[in-house]
Amino acid sequence: MSQTLIAYVNGDFIPLQNATIHIEDRGFQFADGIYEVIACFGGTFLDLQAHLNRLQRSCEAVRIPLPCALSEIATLVLQTYERNPYSDAMVYIQITRGVAPRSHLPQGELKPTLIITSRQLPKPTDAKLASGVHAITLKDIRWKHCEIKSIALLASVLGKQEAALQQADEAFWLDEEDHILEGCATNVLAIIHGALVTHPLDHQVLGGITRDMAIRAACEHSLTVEERAWKLGETGLTEIMMSSTTNAVMPICFINHQAVADGEPGVLTMQIRKWMIEAMDTLRRE
Ligand code: PDD
Repeated sequence: MSQTLIAYVNGDFIPLQNATIHIEDRGFQFADGIYEVIACFGGTFLDLQAHLNRLQRSCEAVRIPLPCALSEIATLVLQTYERNPYSDAMVYIQITRGVAPRSHLPQGELKPTLIITSRQLPKPTDAKLASGVHAITLKDIRWKHCEIKSIALLASVLGKQEAALQQADEAFWLDEEDHILEGCATNVLAIIHGALVTHPLDHQVLGGITRDMAIRAACEHSLTVEERAWKLGETGLTEIMMSSTTNAVMPICFINHQAVADGEPGVLTMQIRKWMIEAMDTLRRE
């Protein structure tokens, strides 16, 4: 009979087949975590300290507190290795920000999730070594596909954290030429010379359903709509708003601590919002 594999999960060693984490773990919801893989040869880990140091650096870079001291993690790594049947093993350490109701901005003190597993270290066959491997080249797409509503949201989480540190509600991403692309969890639209302007749909923005709704409402009421790249500081820019399922449209009154126009919600923004809310109200049944 094959030996039961054992995983370490948040304080317990348990059979791998029973090892689960909560569905609201931020690793699952946002890819909000980091990991390491360490090779072990007959009980001796290769460059263990270098892996632990990188683990610590990764945690610091994404502002996840270490779940326990590095020396304790080293002990848990060894214990996980010893509870599993592989002499030559690869031990995985995964740390996420923890479990919380889904919100990009982590709320309150979270307890980081720590899991450790040990699997057999794969070894290339002699045939593979003799033939070598084939590779291909690709344009680097890491991560340049914002049109995909992917759960790989670590950058958005970091953007929201930075916004919160600066007492702001949202951060807007800029391209190389400082065009405004979109927010961490919103699309961004502006009123420029009376027209509703927003970045065109491409790989740099998510095609927001609410963005479409705002555009539709504007068109239905004969506002000009321009889908084009735009920047802060353009002449004629009088209003900025963000859109998302959770916001409809929301006026942006300050950007980088400076008032947009007079620092009050824009008139057209609030008009578009009213049209959208009216459309939403018709969905409610008595
Ligand atoms: N976020 N852009 C990004 C990067 C988003 O994550 C979202 C939505 C939007 C707006 O899309 P829509 O209008 O379809 O909601 C644009 C959701 C609200 C979230 O992650 O919670």
